[in-house]
Amino acid sequence: MDENLDDLYQEIILSHNKRPRNEGELDPRTHDAEGYNPLCGDRLTIFVNKQDDTIEAVQFTGEGCAISKASASIMTESIKGLNGEALEAKIAEVMELLTAKEEPTVDPFEMGELAALIGVRKFPPRVKCATLAWHTLQAALNNDEKVSTE
Ligand code: FES
Repeated sequence: MDENLDDLYQEIILSHNKRPRNEGELDPRTHDAEGYNPLCGDRLTIFVNKQDDTIEAVQFTGEGCAISKASASIMTESIKGLNGEALEAKIAEVMELLTAKEEPTVDPFEMGELAALIGVRKFPPRVKCATLAWHTLQAALNNDEKVSTE
């Protein structure tokens, strides 16, 4: 990966870790779930307010590493206002970006700040840090109360 792009991605992660967007308990909400990473013991809770199939608001709480927090923060900004298929497509795209064995086929330049998570692929043990928020979002939307990254 381009070194300047790497630096930019790192800055984005650090910025979201330092000043997480949409952190705190959401009320009212229609969905919530707690996600757990058994490798480190970190937990995140994702709160969603979904109206007429559209994500009206999404927030998170929890303590985790910089990557898990930044991923949750970036996620809240990237899914607000999405509905139905667009939301499913976004979740699938991010999961592919993070976990595909081959280099991702998604275009990082079209993904905005989500592309910053791409750097995590170089550190396989940290991929679960980045996917924690997304697994937890899926659990919340499926009305599961808890989910583990294992
Ligand atoms: Fe626990 Fe990253 S070290 S989620």
